[in-house]
Amino acid sequence: MINLSDIRVALVGVGNCASSLVQGVEYYRDVDESSPVVSGLMHNIIGGYKISDIKFVAAFDIDKRKVGYDLGKAIFSEPNCTKKFQDVPELGVDVQKGPVLDGVAETTMDAFLVDGKQKPVDVAEILRETKAEILINYLPVGSERATRYYVDACLESGVALINAIPVFIASDSEWIKKFEEKNLPVIGDDVKSQVGATIVHRTLAKLFVDRGVKLDRSYQLNVGGNTDFLNMLKRERLKSKKISKTESVQSQLRNRLSDYNIHIGPSDHIPWLEDNKVCFIRMEGRKFGDVPLTLELRLSVEDSPNSAGIMVDAIRCCKLALDRKISGVLTSPSAYFMKHPPEQYRDSTAKEMVEEFIRGERER
Ligand SMILES: NC(=O)c1ccc[n+]([C@@H]2O[C@H](COP(=O)([O-])OP(=O)(O)OC[C@H]3O[C@@H](n4cnc5c(N)ncnc54)[C@H](O)[C@@H]3O)[C@@H](O)[C@H]2O)c1
Repeated sequence: MINLSDIRVALVGVGNCASSLVQGVEYYRDVDESSPVVSGLMHNIIGGYKISDIKFVAAFDIDKRKVGYDLGKAIFSEPNCTKKFQDVPELGVDVQKGPVLDGVAETTMDAFLVDGKQKPVDVAEILRETKAEILINYLPVGSERATRYYVDACLESGVALINAIPVFIASDSEWIKKFEEKNLPVIGDDVKSQVGATIVHRTLAKLFVDRGVKLDRSYQLNVGGNTDFLNMLKRERLKSKKISKTESVQSQLRNRLSDYNIHIGPSDHIPWLEDNKVCFIRMEGRKFGDVPLTLELRLSVEDSPNSAGIMVDAIRCCKLALDRKISGVLTSPSAYFMKHPPEQYRDSTAKEMVEEFIRGERER
């Protein structure tokens, strides 16, 4: 039976991020509704929607250790390696096989096990059958063709999109137009973690600007041991990831750094780190009297739960847009929740904009 307050979500890619999200929805299921604040989220309730209103109704993957299994089980299948912080019961949703297209890279060929005998389903048809309302794209970085396939399925079946990866959809005017034509909202691109490398680097860049320090050069190097990092060993897949992460920091500066003076990117895969991501940031600048200043920072986080709370809030904002019949790109949620939105704002401004959006004082 469909409950009116249900938010019906389909997942594309049942990897570590999906695991943290599904675990999180279970973790907060019985949270005290009267408490305005819960750890890891913007608000306990958003526009009347509780965390437990999120219902997973469909899931797509290509790995034979996940396809055909209940989502509650598949999230704990290899090669997923993120921290288990919550038991998840069977959810009554079997993971279905999507088309592989360019989802598997040379570097992940041995990590993602594809069984050619399992035939892909018609994703648009499943989305219609399951009455999915929002699809979350958690494909590996560089999945350009696969992303286009799933986004077309959204448009065909009338499903909104939250694009967690750096293939540009919500920041591309052609795709935005397509969502407007179908009266569907879209949030994207490339989810920004709660306290991750991007938000920390952006905040420090803004701090330098606000305190009158001239930033001369900077780098951000990231290492991790999950399949996201394994996939990103393939340099050709990284083009848009690099743009997304670099622009996110550049957008906070008064004067852009030349390409030579800024380097941001994933740098290596270290298997034993598993889902732990370690980030190294260096910033070199000049303060009063052009006296040099150097900042070095090391941040260590469990990668996947870091973006799951952001997604829980993004899902509820997307549902509000569906309720309010707002179509096209949601500028405020995209600016606050995503690294590469169509329009960049300071994070404090973007947060205010999302609060106004939630209260209904701002259309998008
Ligand atoms: N961890 C974060 O906080 C964060 C932040 C920003 C962006 N992202 C992005 O989110 C995405 C997901 O990250 P992850 O850590 O869950 O990755 P992951 O490697 O754990 O999961 C990817 C999943 O996609 C599946 N897959 C591959 N091709 C497919 C296809 N054609 N159809 C359906 N499924 C397919 C794989 O089998 C795997 O289960 C990545 O692109 C990552 O860069 C993550």
